[in-house]
Parts: sequence; C-alpha cells; structure tokens
Amino acid sequence: MAYYSIAIDGPSGAGKSSMAKAVAKKYNFIYVDTGAIYRTVGLAAHRRGISCSDETEVAKILPELRIEMKYDDKGEQRMYLDGEDVSSDIRLPEISICASDVSALPAVRAFLLDMQRAMARTNSVIMDGRDIGTVVLPNADVKIFLTASSSERARRRLLQLKEKGINEDFEKVLKEIEYRDKQDSSRDIAPLKPADDAVIIDSSEIDFDGTVALISSVIEERLHQN
Ligand code: DC
Repeated sequence: MAYYSIAIDGPSGAGKSSMAKAVAKKYNFIYVDTGAIYRTVGLAAHRRGISCSDETEVAKILPELRIEMKYDDKGEQRMYLDGEDVSSDIRLPEISICASDVSALPAVRAFLLDMQRAMARTNSVIMDGRDIGTVVLPNADVKIFLTASSSERARRRLLQLKEKGINEDFEKVLKEIEYRDKQDSSRDIAPLKPADDAVIIDSSEIDFDGTVALISSVIEERLHQN
C-alpha cells in the first residue's frame, strides 16, 4: 500500500498545527506534531534541573527517556514521558523556550529522527515542524512552508491564550516569538528554512478557511500529479 506524506514547516505561531489538523481530517491522514516531541525532551531536561542548552548533560539523559506518542479516541496526539501523559505540561511557556533550546542540539535531533520517520513509513501523514521538508521527509509528496508576520502571530497567540482565560502582554508574547524565530532559524543543524520545492504561504492577511482552501488546492494539485 502506498502512503502519502505532507510536510508543513514554518515559524512558531504561524498556524501550522490548526492547519495540519484541519487538513488531516479532510484527507484522512494522521497528524504528527513533531514540536510536541521536542517539547517532551525539553520538559524532561527542565524537570531534572538540567540546562536545556547543555549538550553533554541533555545527551546523557536521552537513553533513559521513554517518549511515546499515542492517539486518543478523538484522534488527538498525546505525549507520554515515562508512562505519564504530559500533553498539557509541554505547553507551558518555560517549556517552549526549553524545547527550542534542546532542539538546537545535534544529539537531540539525531535521537528523534527515526521516531518521526517511522510514523511516515506506516501511515499517510501530515507532519508539522521546522525541518520536515528539508531533513525528516525530504521526499514528502507535498511541502508547504506556512508563515505570517511576527506581530500577526503574536496577535493570534494572545487570542488563543485569552480563550483559555489567560491574559498576556502583547510585547511579552512578541518577544518570545522573536526569540524562538531567531534561535530556530540561525542554528547550525536543521535550521528553519523552506525546502527548495516547498510552496510558501504567507497567511498574515488570509483567514483560517482561506488558508485551508489554499493548502488544499496545493495538496490536490500535487497529489494528482503523482
Ligand atoms: O512547533 P512547536 O512550537 O511546538 O515546537 C517547539 C520547538 O521545537 C520549536 O521552538 C523548535 C523545535 N522544533 C524543531 O526544531 N524541529 C521540529 N521539527 C519541530 C519543532
């Protein structure tokens, strides 16, 4: 049986995960949120009181970690660390920074590579991250690079937080986004950048439904060519 793979890369807060979820539902693909895997490593380091950017210390704990990705009955991806469901804890702001820090370490990227590729070997997947089209699935059938201006991404993030009853300061959220953009794009290994054959979509001025429609048209065009 042939499996298809769709890669969606882009900076934090560009809407990759909501797009990927909508597209997965529409085409009956499995959605794989690879950022959640880096976040789980970040959480493990944070819980042990290790500096998230210390490669020697972080590399030491990797073989001890039991990281599992499972899907609940609603089809939502859940992350488990040593048997504990950590799907909420990995979303804490301090863990976002730690995830970005550990993701710059070659030892961590090598450790997580096969886990991500294994999902695409046995399922049709839509996978979101930073290096899916460039490193994890260089032969993906469709590659999308989804972006938006940093101020628009901060505005959307504030709205999401507000819906959860959390009031945050715009400047603080913008700073966190800019910190991660800079770090994720400037690292030596697997930096955030569009694959040569990716379709770049800037959603700053397009709403949710418009972006789903645009991505769907790219997917249909590419999959029909294959
Ligand atoms: O997508 P996210 O914000 O949940 O990702 C958390 C961090 O993980 C992000 O700052 C960069 C890193 N990451 C990565 O380096 N490569 C990926 N494929 C996915 C995420």
